[in-house]
Amino acid sequence: MEKAGGIVGEILESIKGMIQPGISTKEIELFAEGRIKALGGKPAFKGYRGYPASICTSVNEEVVHGIPSSRKLREGDIISIDLGVYFDGFYGDGAVTIPVGKIDDDAVALLRITKEALDLGIENAVEGKRVNDISYAIQSHAEKNGFSVVRTFVGHGIGRELHEEPQVPNYGPPGKGPRLKEGMTLAIEPMINAGTFEVKVLGDGWTAVTTDGKKSAHFEHTVLVTAGKPKILTKFNQKNYN
Ligand code: MF3
Ligand code: CO
Repeated sequence: MEKAGGIVGEILESIKGMIQPGISTKEIELFAEGRIKALGGKPAFKGYRGYPASICTSVNEEVVHGIPSSRKLREGDIISIDLGVYFDGFYGDGAVTIPVGKIDDDAVALLRITKEALDLGIENAVEGKRVNDISYAIQSHAEKNGFSVVRTFVGHGIGRELHEEPQVPNYGPPGKGPRLKEGMTLAIEPMINAGTFEVKVLGDGWTAVTTDGKKSAHFEHTVLVTAGKPKILTKFNQKNYN
């Protein structure tokens, strides 16, 4: 899982450097798929329940599962890139939201708070705590800062399958849910909206958007639960995927 996660982290980091006005989401897709294969992995999302691409590219009010296309990014957009890799029997899953050129102050805050919410969630992925301790840490940070938490999509266990038990919601009361144990691996992935938490899925059957058209951000890491500090498996620069 360290290897699968290492590939995810490396590619997400490279993609950050590519994001600028004028690039199409399909170009990002082609780069990512090429890198996954070059590093010895397989795209985890392609073909999953019929999903047609190797990454998800969700722009502005798109929350998750945006399908790469000829759409070109414009100054002021934000884009969430979600990437899953299968390597030697195991999965890694990660996501990051990236600004396109200069973005407005509200968008800057949305990205910062969503990333902080993920970090706070990860801090709670410790043996002896419960799944909803992660959920509560994420929800309280987002709502305290005036943002809302998507309910329709949740994080998940991950390992030999992309999606395993338990579900890891980004909302809920602390002290509830399954007990965390050393060795568990979780994909923690807050999706945080600037306006309402409500989402709907577009006619393509995949792209989820906010119902009020306001922006949404998404950060995700695959994390190993330990008795001490959680280990982030999709972090950039682990240099362990060779
Ligand atoms: N990170 C998302 C998830 O865990 C992405 C899945 S995209 C799909 O659900 F195409 F695989 F569905
Ligand atoms: Co996921």
